Amino acid sequence: MDGVINMNELIKIAQALVADDKGLLAMDESTPTANKRFAAAGIPQTVEARRAYRELLITTPRLGESISGAILYDETIRQQTKAGVSFVDALKQAGIIPGIKVDLGAKPLAGFPGEKVTEGLDGLRERLTEYKQLGARFAKWRAVIAIGAVGPEQLPSTGCLEANMYALARYAALCQEVGLVPIVEPEVLMEGDHTLDRCFAVTQQGLTMLFTQLYTQRVRLEGLLLKPNMVLAGKGSFEQNTVEQVADATVTCLLRSVPPAVAGIAFLSGGQSPEQASSHLNAMHSQFTGKLPWLLTFSFARAIQQPALDIWKGQDANVAAAQQALFYRASSNRAARQGQYQAKRT
Ligand code: 13P
Repeated sequence: MDGVINMNELIKIAQALVADDKGLLAMDESTPTANKRFAAAGIPQTVEARRAYRELLITTPRLGESISGAILYDETIRQQTKAGVSFVDALKQAGIIPGIKVDLGAKPLAGFPGEKVTEGLDGLRERLTEYKQLGARFAKWRAVIAIGAVGPEQLPSTGCLEANMYALARYAALCQEVGLVPIVEPEVLMEGDHTLDRCFAVTQQGLTMLFTQLYTQRVRLEGLLLKPNMVLAGKGSFEQNTVEQVADATVTCLLRSVPPAVAGIAFLSGGQSPEQASSHLNAMHSQFTGKLPWLLTFSFARAIQQPALDIWKGQDANVAAAQQALFYRASSNRAARQGQYQAKRT
C-alpha cells in the first residue's frame, strides 16, 4: 500500500454518482436490519429470501434510468442472481455503479449513556481492498447521532459527536487510499420530540465538526459524497412544518456547514414516508435552483424500497408488481431532482 491517491479516478466516480439527475439506491441493510423488515412484512428471514429480494431490486427493468449507484452489504456483494450472474455484474450491466457499506454498526459509546459510536476501523484497509477487488467503486459508513436528554444532560454530547466524526474521517481517508469514493453519513435521528430548530442546530454542529475532522485527516473533498439527514422536527414532536420550511431549513443548514468542494450531497430518508422524502427533495430544487454550490440528490433505502417490499411479501408472483413500485419511487426521486415531482400514491 503506497498511499498514493488517484484523485482523477475518485472524482470521476463521485461525479458519476450524482450526474444526470440520478441518485442512489441504498440496499445495504445489515442482516439483522433486513430480517427485522422481513419479519414486519411476514417474510421468512432466510439467506435465500434476502438474496431473492435483492435480486428483485437489482433486476428491476430500466432502474438505471434513475439510479446511478447501489449500496450493497457484505452478504450481498458475494451473491448472484438465480441465473448465476454476480450482483456486481448485474448492476454494471444495468449501468449502475456498485458500492458497499463497510461500517460494522453503531455500538454503545463507553461513558456516554444513550449514545453510540460506529465501529469498524480495525482491519478496514484490508476489507476495503477486498471489496474493491469484488467490484465496489464506492463505500458507505453511517454514524448515528441521537437528540434527547439523559438526566440534566442534553444529547448529543461533544464526546459522541467527536468520536463519530473522527471515525468517519479515518474511514474516508482509508477509502481514498484504496481508490473507493467514501460516502460519509452522519445521521441525526428523527426519534424524539425535538423541534426542527433543534435538529438544525445539531446537524450544523455535527457537519461543522465532520468537515474539520475530514480536513485534519487530509481527505480530498472533491472525491467524497456527503449523506446527511434532512432537517426535520422529531417524529414525536407536535410541531408541524411545511414542505417549504423543511427544504429551507435543510438547504440553509447545508450552505452554512458544507464546503462547495464536496462532489455532491445525497440524502438519507431516515423514516420519512416515500412521498415526504421526495416532496422535500423536490422543494429544495424548486426553491433553490441556481443557488446550490453542490449537486443535491437522494440515497434512500426505506423511502425507495418500502412499497416494493410490502407488495413482494416473499412471493414470486408479486415480483413484477414490486419492481414496478420500486421503479416508480426511483423515477419519482429523479423527477424531484428536476423540481417536477408531484406527490401521489402508487
Ligand atoms: P434510509 O433512507 O432508510 O434512512 O436509509 C438510508 C441509509 O443508507 C441508512 O444508512
